[in-house]
Amino acid sequence: MPARILVIDQDHATLVWLRSKLSAEGYSVETVPRGDVALQKIEQQVPDLIVLDPRLPDGNGLDLVQRLRSDPAYATLGIIILSAETDPTVIAQGLNAGADEYIIKRPGADIELVAKIRAWLIKPKRREMPIERGRLYSFCSAKGGTGTTSLCINTAYALAKLEPRAEILVVDMVFPIGSVAPSLAYESRNTIAKLSQESPQTLDVALVKKYVSPVLPWGFRVLIGASDPQEASTLDVNQIAPIFSILRKTYDYVLVDLGRTLSRISLPIIENSSAIVVIVTPDISTVKASRLVLDFLETRNIDRHRIVLVNNRTVGRVWTTTEDIERELKLPLAVTVPYVVEYMTMAINEAMPFMHKFPEHAAGMVFTNLAQRLQQYDRVKK
Ligand SMILES: Nc1ncnc2c1ncn2[C@@H]1O[C@H](COP(=O)(O)OP(=O)(O)O)[C@@H](O)[C@H]1O
Ligand SMILES: [Mg+2]
Repeated sequence: MPARILVIDQDHATLVWLRSKLSAEGYSVETVPRGDVALQKIEQQVPDLIVLDPRLPDGNGLDLVQRLRSDPAYATLGIIILSAETDPTVIAQGLNAGADEYIIKRPGADIELVAKIRAWLIKPKRREMPIERGRLYSFCSAKGGTGTTSLCINTAYALAKLEPRAEILVVDMVFPIGSVAPSLAYESRNTIAKLSQESPQTLDVALVKKYVSPVLPWGFRVLIGASDPQEASTLDVNQIAPIFSILRKTYDYVLVDLGRTLSRISLPIIENSSAIVVIVTPDISTVKASRLVLDFLETRNIDRHRIVLVNNRTVGRVWTTTEDIERELKLPLAVTVPYVVEYMTMAINEAMPFMHKFPEHAAGMVFTNLAQRLQQYDRVKK
């Protein structure tokens, strides 16, 4: 099958010129004079490559380039800018927007264009895996009530303080009933369960953003799993990986509360996480159960270096020391969250992060330490 090339240029003569040149090279060529029509065509059927002059009657073509580049559906689409602009700053803007090549429009440019198209088509596609913008952190534990939700929320809060300009998202993946929303007094019918029911063809950044909350007063956004058990039962597990791939591209940090689930729901998320926060409480049964979780993760080839072990002292008495936990789990503890008596529950009852309710409390430092630890984990390298 010949490679499919879409040429976008407001100048009719250019379209005629390139159509004849590229067709003569054996490519299947389509031409359009506007950005909006181009986008429609691309959405209908993704070409192998587009050739674009950013000066379009309906706006700046670089917006189109950015839009295509932010969508994993177009990860392998080649983009060549062909423009009369020779200013190096303008050329840099085009490349920064995500174009693969920039060719200056001048007599003979078609020869250069054909050569660059040929080179592009035989090149291994480096975007075969979508470029991931952000980092994904899973929070999970072997048992319920270990403070997974509290840790997830407060780490997001600490991250927002450390990086006020970062786009941070907390996702509640505890089914059928999550607790992120009630702990933050956030209510919405826009849930992952519902999003998973949307047609896969329409799943893109714009759609996913409709399901995510605005920035809450704590500096991060929220996306909840399901609003009730009935809705939770409609979750389409096959859509989880594509949804998270988009989330991770769209936000700088995605923190996922997985609760105690090690399941078909959580595995695709854990496997794609930059770091996996495993929370243990200092009682013997949780530590033993955590051992099983870690053993299981090992069978899934999850690199031990990606596991961040956290000791959360949810109770006043301690039956196991740091050394006991590290020996049993064969991993160093990253941080230990102190027992904060009833303060954690007070914050939850008042629907705000503990760190916000008790800014002076020393435990806040631990969440900040954990956030800093996580910042060091880059995106997963495959
Ligand atoms: N470090 C801590 N000190 C005191 N209480 C805690 C601590 N961490 C969590 N809790 C309490 O433990 C309970 C469970 O916390 P939660 O975050 O809902 O856990 P999970 O999401 O694992 O079920 C809550 O009542 C919370 O207030
Ligand atoms: Mg929870």
